[in-house]
Amino acid sequence: MDALRKILLQYAPECFIGDEIDPIALQHRLSSTENPNTTPITTGRLLLEHGPLEAKHQLLVGDNLEIMRSERKRFEKRFKCVYMDPPYNTGKQFLYNDQRSSIQEWLAFISPRLQLAHQYLRQDGLFFASIDDHAYAHLKLLCDQIFGNENYVTTFIWRRSGAGGLRKIFPVTTHEYILCYAKQKSCHSKPWHAPHSESSLNAFRWEDERGKYKRQALYHRTLAYREAQHYPITIPDGRKVYPPKEQGAWRYIKSRFLEEKNKNNICFIPSNRSPLRLEDGRPAPINIYTKQYLIAGQSNPSSLLNPALVGQTRAAKAELKSIFGSDLFQYAKPTKLLIHLFSLFPTEDGDLFLDMFAGSASMADAIHQLNPLLHTVSIQKPELCSPKSPAHEAGFMNIAALAWERICKTIPSTKARYRWQAKTEKK
Ligand SMILES: C[S@@+](CC[C@H](N)C(=O)[O-])C[C@H]1O[C@@H](n2cnc3c(N)ncnc32)[C@H](O)[C@@H]1O
Repeated sequence: MDALRKILLQYAPECFIGDEIDPIALQHRLSSTENPNTTPITTGRLLLEHGPLEAKHQLLVGDNLEIMRSERKRFEKRFKCVYMDPPYNTGKQFLYNDQRSSIQEWLAFISPRLQLAHQYLRQDGLFFASIDDHAYAHLKLLCDQIFGNENYVTTFIWRRSGAGGLRKIFPVTTHEYILCYAKQKSCHSKPWHAPHSESSLNAFRWEDERGKYKRQALYHRTLAYREAQHYPITIPDGRKVYPPKEQGAWRYIKSRFLEEKNKNNICFIPSNRSPLRLEDGRPAPINIYTKQYLIAGQSNPSSLLNPALVGQTRAAKAELKSIFGSDLFQYAKPTKLLIHLFSLFPTEDGDLFLDMFAGSASMADAIHQLNPLLHTVSIQKPELCSPKSPAHEAGFMNIAALAWERICKTIPSTKARYRWQAKTEKK
């Protein structure tokens, strides 16, 4: 055994932390000798604690509570964004060999981790948590306590699958949630944007010297009647038109309407089906619209996520297949979903993102696709892959090894660093 250790030390010194063999580094080394770029750099605590944070993508292997407690000094108030995709409490049994089964136990597991997530965020930081139907209400209340209800941003609804399978008595749940909180909402002044979907782009059918625009009727049938939104508007032939008396209103009060008209943002379009009325009650020959210009391809984000933009579980499976040759991990999120969420808000090069439950490292992959100048820290415990699982059959002993392999494969050009957080390591 000693001879083997000596040989290993000579040929693969990076697989040791002190005298201990680092099993993930060793596994990685054995499976990827053909690609020297993917050789992991393992480092001791001292270097990481005092050294610069020069690796753009880091994987910390171990229990996230332990790691986050021990790294508090280094990471407190450093992160622009923390993402959490924990094992869900399915009501049957905790997933991933975990025995906790009650929601109280699940909350007790999550609560200290959430508090650390809060401490890790910068004042202008954001927190996102994926969660399913079973625990949503409980997690929302816990987050309200820790982040403050006043810092709640929204809950995104993600359609993870179509309603397939056998017909059951009750509706099939095909969606999950992503809770979003700001560390401090008042630190955010720039509006969030989302890219347009193909179908929303189709609405920008008109164009003038200022660019493409879509039309929105100034009169809205569903608006409640308000006197300030029921003024007459003079149309190009000099007659006056009104919204119908019985229902609806103009979208703007008069001063705003005049402002938009001066900016040339109002158009009068001939129509023989106009809901508007002339003074004598007859239908008006035109309808009135506001122009909404396409601004740098961005639209107002909605909490209801568009499956065409963000993908479903099957998109995540396809990604794993293209990275590893098969779908190795059941709980992966599609990178399209994460890219969409993390592109809604403004970031700057060098901003740090944390994934507390990395799984297959989809967040690091997504962030690199979003902007190669952003940095990530992913934490994943070395949870063993069960012997007959596809991951085990593909040669991965544990989920952290799989996460590391994905980081190396999808981010080959950037320096990545991984560190094994051994429990016995001295501070
Ligand atoms: C829902 S999965 C995350 C999936 C991931 N977002 C992805 O797209 O691949 C949760 C992960 O958290 C890991 N995990 C569970 N408890 C942990 C802990 N205490 N510390 C670190 N990782 C943990 C599990 O092993 C699992 O890989």
